[in-house]
Amino acid sequence: MANTFPEHPSTFQRDLITWYHAHRRQLPWREQPSLYRTVVSEFMLQQTQIKTAVPYFERWMRALPDFASLAAADEATVLKLWEGLGYYSRARNLHKLAQALVVLPTPPTTREEWQALPGIGPYASAAIASIAQHLPVACVDGNVVRILARLTADATPHRDSAQASRAFAPLAQQVLNREHPGDHNQAMMELGATVCQRHNPLCSLCPVRAHCAADARGNPESYPRLAARQIENVAVTRAWCRRDGQLLLHRIPATARRLAGQYELPSAADLPIPPTAPIKAVKKRGITRFRITETIREIPPPASLPENVEWVTEAQLGAITLSGPHRRWITALLAAGD
Ligand code: ADE
Repeated sequence: MANTFPEHPSTFQRDLITWYHAHRRQLPWREQPSLYRTVVSEFMLQQTQIKTAVPYFERWMRALPDFASLAAADEATVLKLWEGLGYYSRARNLHKLAQALVVLPTPPTTREEWQALPGIGPYASAAIASIAQHLPVACVDGNVVRILARLTADATPHRDSAQASRAFAPLAQQVLNREHPGDHNQAMMELGATVCQRHNPLCSLCPVRAHCAADARGNPESYPRLAARQIENVAVTRAWCRRDGQLLLHRIPATARRLAGQYELPSAADLPIPPTAPIKAVKKRGITRFRITETIREIPPPASLPENVEWVTEAQLGAITLSGPHRRWITALLAAGD
């Protein structure tokens, strides 16, 4: 019964959901679902893998167990709990969302109402409405695009993942299991993450293989056709400077668009004299389409402190919020006795 997709959605839905019930990973937001737990998990999972998100989720729930406690928390507490997950606008939006929800008489009851709230786009509105409220709306993320493109052997070139998501939204909605929309959506994501992977998909384990046109053609990895991202290389020099148990750090101004209020190793742009030799460490990381090489160089203590550059005692490091991978770098350099 190959390649009937999407003409007979009910067989596809049944094969998918049966597999999901047998193979789904046990995750804290799945085992004890609630609107709050769904919202927090979906915000965390937007740019973060499940295995990274789980300990953050558990810690978050202990500190801020409901919308009311999140709404009443100060921003520093929220950002501290998010530290290390990156893309901090998600944490700020989640905070604003809680503040918006606690003043509503009841939570939204449609996808459109969700989408009017802070930080909620087409993906999050569908995830929350379907998983927590059982509304029949299909989620489309990168996993879902990949599965649908393979099921249909869709050779259309898509400019980027946002455009591909829009293109596949009608098909995702057409094949949605309207009786179990939350489980169907999570099954699609789970299948994409664990079986229908970008590289080396595990087609022999796939519950919907019989429906897959790309498998029938023998080239599942060729789909979806997404234009290669333009990667830009960026070089940043950062300073490493210790004095009397203190470390020199830059505090990102409260008015900054990104990472406001967080600390990081000062970059050349934060200092009057750019750091020169010797090199302590070279770190590479990727943020969106940028590949960043960060060269950390030791500098002597400055005679006076430039704006937003502060001495932070090493005992205080645990209490401040350090941006991105800076905590990892600092911990490693301090442990190495540098
Ligand atoms: N990715 C984002 N949300 C998810 C969920 N609920 N289950 C699996 N993967 C996800």
